[in-house]
Amino acid sequence: MTMKKTTLALAAALLPLLAGAQDAQIESKVAALMRQMTVAEKVGQLHQISGGLHTGPASGEDARTQADIRSGKVGSMLNVKGVADTRAMQALALQSRLHIPLLFGQDVIHGYRTVFPVPLGESASWDMEAIEQSARVAAREASAAGIHWTFAPMVDIARDPRWGRVMEGAGEDAFLGSAIARARVHGFQGKRLGATDAVMATAKHFAAYGAALAGRDYNAVDMSQQQLFEVYLPPFKAALDAGAATFMNSFNTLNGVPATGNSFLQRDVLKGRWNFKGFVVSDWGSVREMVAHGYASDLADASVKAINAGSDMDMESYAHLNYLEQSIKSGKVKMKTLDDAVRRILYKKFELGLFDDPYRFADAAREKAVLADPSHRAAALDVAQKSLVLLKNEGGALPLSRDAKRIAVIGPLADARRDLEGGWVVEGDRARVVSILEGIRGHAGKAEVSYAQACGVGCTNSDGFADAVATAAKADVVVLAVGETWDMSGEAKSRTDITLPGHQEQLFAALKATGKPVVVVMLAGRPLVFNAIADQADAIVYAWFPGSEGGNAVANVLFGDYNPSGKLPITFPRSVGQIPLSYAQPSTGRPVTDEKDVVYKSGYIDSVNSPRYAFGHGLSYTSFKYSGLTVSSAEMSPSQQVTLSFDLANTGKAEGTEIVQLYLRDMVASVARPVKELKGFQKIHLLPGEQRRVNFTIDRELLSFFNSQLVWGAEAGDFKLMVGSASDDIRLEGALKLLPAR
Ligand code: NOJ
Repeated sequence: MTMKKTTLALAAALLPLLAGAQDAQIESKVAALMRQMTVAEKVGQLHQISGGLHTGPASGEDARTQADIRSGKVGSMLNVKGVADTRAMQALALQSRLHIPLLFGQDVIHGYRTVFPVPLGESASWDMEAIEQSARVAAREASAAGIHWTFAPMVDIARDPRWGRVMEGAGEDAFLGSAIARARVHGFQGKRLGATDAVMATAKHFAAYGAALAGRDYNAVDMSQQQLFEVYLPPFKAALDAGAATFMNSFNTLNGVPATGNSFLQRDVLKGRWNFKGFVVSDWGSVREMVAHGYASDLADASVKAINAGSDMDMESYAHLNYLEQSIKSGKVKMKTLDDAVRRILYKKFELGLFDDPYRFADAAREKAVLADPSHRAAALDVAQKSLVLLKNEGGALPLSRDAKRIAVIGPLADARRDLEGGWVVEGDRARVVSILEGIRGHAGKAEVSYAQACGVGCTNSDGFADAVATAAKADVVVLAVGETWDMSGEAKSRTDITLPGHQEQLFAALKATGKPVVVVMLAGRPLVFNAIADQADAIVYAWFPGSEGGNAVANVLFGDYNPSGKLPITFPRSVGQIPLSYAQPSTGRPVTDEKDVVYKSGYIDSVNSPRYAFGHGLSYTSFKYSGLTVSSAEMSPSQQVTLSFDLANTGKAEGTEIVQLYLRDMVASVARPVKELKGFQKIHLLPGEQRRVNFTIDRELLSFFNSQLVWGAEAGDFKLMVGSASDDIRLEGALKLLPAR
């Protein structure tokens, strides 16, 4: 071993020891501080309140709240942002007897000043580096603006596009969702907590919030333990393994027990089995809502049930503040339980360095410089391009020809700025959002670009159609921007009808009737249903809400300066009636093998089973050929691994990136397995004519699942291996036999 290698190996061996020593040091500081704390002061650390409405610029907090902060009754605030305001609030907290600093939390979901695509959009990039970078930039900006903690990532699996919050997550799949959860946590928290450009991440909403019945927000969740452990919990576990500092529980009941008061979830699984060391914050008012659920008799009871179940910090219910001290006295809550919650929170405050310098995240010069960093816009453009999904492209409609002389840009969202940002914007620089029209104008060269709005997203008349049709008739090609407005998805934005709102489909029909090629750019925070457009449009680009650089990203794709590579992270149904619909269909004894024959089969008499666009779907301006699949061994013992390989070739004329996907099916198991499960993916960039051998390693872990006893493991037997360009576009198949353990 060389000298350098020896030093490196030594450093690597020492790191955990050093980290352990640091942990012990913090633990002892926490213990020393807690010895000085009264019960009321301990309770204060569990109380989180919102600034927002009553926090004025740097000073306007109301007198009562200010007094609470000064007397150590508040441990954390949300919705206080910016150096001036956070400094002002921190100064109040430092007047408290023990000078314990506040933690400032904020929903920094997809950027702070620089707005990135909404999380579902970013997830369509399947690009972990880009997603991590997006979270990194968000953390840099937020931390420079006084924020210590983001309430992200939302790692809820969502298979029901009626639910408005599908927009905030990574889509329907546990494998992809877990990878994205890791990337986001790494991005937010950087190399280590305590650096001034890192914020604490929150894995939310624990758990199964995405499975709300009927897609109605805040609704109950009822599911089997297996479904919970296999589909809904893995991204949380991935976030935890990536070091997520905090978890947020959820509004929903899970099999009858509110998540906030759910000790199975928070004590047995999270803090028990998973050994989570951080703290759990409730969702906004979710402690109080246990009364409405009929799970707690009053707010005092709710406080007892929340903390005893492992929910540490109370966001805005004022339950612990008003009742916890009394419950300690009466013995309903043990001092040990309170201490554990307080210890977890104080630990993070020490880890962030707030006791050394409570203002270390509040430097006005840094705030100014970081929020204006031009590299952040470049990162936003990069992710936005990668997130766009080319759903359809016929007759070479795209990329737009450089010879086109006249381009008509039409539609309610063509010149929108606010909508491009999507929901959960904190401090977005709206004036600098690039609209689609602006992006196209900037890229169109000599072509003449004309514009007609035609109607609003929700318009119910066709007054503006004539003008739009006339504009289209004079053009060589029409780009039509339609979809949802930014506030039609997100929290409390469930819809029963997910077709295009208003008269947008009629507008499409009127434009199509001109005979001009119509390229549709669709903006939305969820999968929409748009069958006529899917059938008749010449091309469709699904743009989600692409953020500050959205217009440039869309234009780059339309003109072919960027070859689209995004793939859907969630299934697009044909109708609401098919929901919930996932590629990972559970098995049925009567599968439909021929869509024309559904008699006594698991189908519909008025619809096919297949989705409009499948999970993993997304086209490119080039074509890819898959060939030569091999599996290094047809059989494998549980301790071995095999390599699945195949050739991927770019057979088209443009360079491009393909996201290759590996699926498998466990053919016979003690629990009937889904017909397909994603188990791997890679993003491969190839020049025209280039070919590469792609390898996936398959081991026991990849073949494992939770059996009926909820034990994780792989069962011996046959597996079908599938490689493809989408879950419904499998190009190669192989087989593998797992041998019994000896
Ligand atoms: C309620 C939402 O469910 C949660 O995601 C968010 O972090 C909190 N409000 C705080 O804004």
